[in-house]
Amino acid sequence: MKARKITRRQAITAASAGALGTFVNWSFPSFTIDGREQAKLAINGGEKVHTGTWPDWPVWDPAAEKNITDMLRTGRWWRGNGEHVADFEKRYADLMGAKRCLATASGTTALITALKGVGVDAGDEVLVSPFTFIASYNVIFMNKALPVFVDSDPETFLLDPSKIEARITDRTTAIIPVHIYGLPADMDRINAVAKKRNLKVVEDACQAWLGEYRGKKLGTLGDVGCFSFQNSKNLPAGEGGAIVSNNESLMDLCNSLHNCGRPVGTVPRTSAYPISGSNFRMQQIQALILMSQMNRIQKDADIRLANAMYLDAKLKEIPGIIPYKLCDGATRSAYHLYPFRYINKEFNNVPKERFIRALNAEGIPCSAGYGQQNKDGLFEEQLNSRGFKRLFPESRLKQWREENVLPGNDKLCNEAVVFYQSILLGSRSHMDDIVKAITKIYENRASLKG
Ligand SMILES: Cc1ncc(COP(=O)(O)O)c(C=O)c1O
Repeated sequence: MKARKITRRQAITAASAGALGTFVNWSFPSFTIDGREQAKLAINGGEKVHTGTWPDWPVWDPAAEKNITDMLRTGRWWRGNGEHVADFEKRYADLMGAKRCLATASGTTALITALKGVGVDAGDEVLVSPFTFIASYNVIFMNKALPVFVDSDPETFLLDPSKIEARITDRTTAIIPVHIYGLPADMDRINAVAKKRNLKVVEDACQAWLGEYRGKKLGTLGDVGCFSFQNSKNLPAGEGGAIVSNNESLMDLCNSLHNCGRPVGTVPRTSAYPISGSNFRMQQIQALILMSQMNRIQKDADIRLANAMYLDAKLKEIPGIIPYKLCDGATRSAYHLYPFRYINKEFNNVPKERFIRALNAEGIPCSAGYGQQNKDGLFEEQLNSRGFKRLFPESRLKQWREENVLPGNDKLCNEAVVFYQSILLGSRSHMDDIVKAITKIYENRASLKG
């Protein structure tokens, strides 16, 4: 590192008098490095920008307690002899603008069921986004199929539709676009390729409640959509999930699959358990928690949207900070997280991890996005398993390894930084603190290196 000539001055200075000049009312103790004015970064022992708290998550509504204790006292805790799960399904289908909703134990079990429902079978291949939570591709393994990644577009954080066709083989039966962080994937282009190549589209909307594409809710644009209601989610219930679709026979099949194979609707009643299913049912208590949380979901979504738009406008003015770009047709993101890219060459080549630590030290919670999931050791474990060697010829697995190169996703993993959804429920002054802290780090990048 360059030798530093540091003259400490205890004077208070308007740090925003630097290149950006956006904020004039905030100040930090300053000193100079090589003649340049510096505010002391909190990571170097200076005062932090944000000293207060951030909104907690999840938020409990005591008004829901009576419904829950009433249900507990009846002993009707499972969906088979209670009405609450069915009530939730009706409300959620209405909220999504879908004909049907099936509640499940989790987002993972929703995806496993939906994949099986659209016909994914052992030895098939399923295309999937690589910039995602592990469950998006684990569910493909659970259906004994091979996940094949389609590279990401670093600007949108999403699967790049122009890269889909090259990954299709004669074994490919479905595609899982993941609306990661609630950002709408380019569904027109994805559906067009799927139609042309006869693939089913299973939307992983596990982070995308109330997000919209061309005015329609995410999760209702493919053949079927899946949601998660795990505790950190914008609609939380500890655990929980849902499948939505307008396809009645597919939803009957999913219902049977998630209920031990019991026949539902159009599923032929050839026996008490005509198909091979599992138990992925939601419990009554989850449905009651969800219905109480649904009372706030739209209001919260509107606050997140307004704050996200404010951050978009402010953060894009800071060199080296690039907020997500919405694809054509995206009408609303769900903001499970607020993502941006950090371009380290604008920050004195300081690695992203150090930038994140510096921002945390300023009192702003944030973290890196997903890692390079295509390099997850889980793949070699699965590809080398006895079952996979039986299901796929060695030549296909060799080709999978050779083609497992995702430059767009590598770049994205290198640059992505995210704020949690609860941060976006803060006030305008919380948002200003985020902008001030990043501006402060940018202005003082010369002293950012550890
Ligand atoms: C993109 C994505 N897909 C699937 C899941 C799985 O959902 P669950 O944790 O409810 O099983 C999650 C959960 O975090 C997710 O973020």
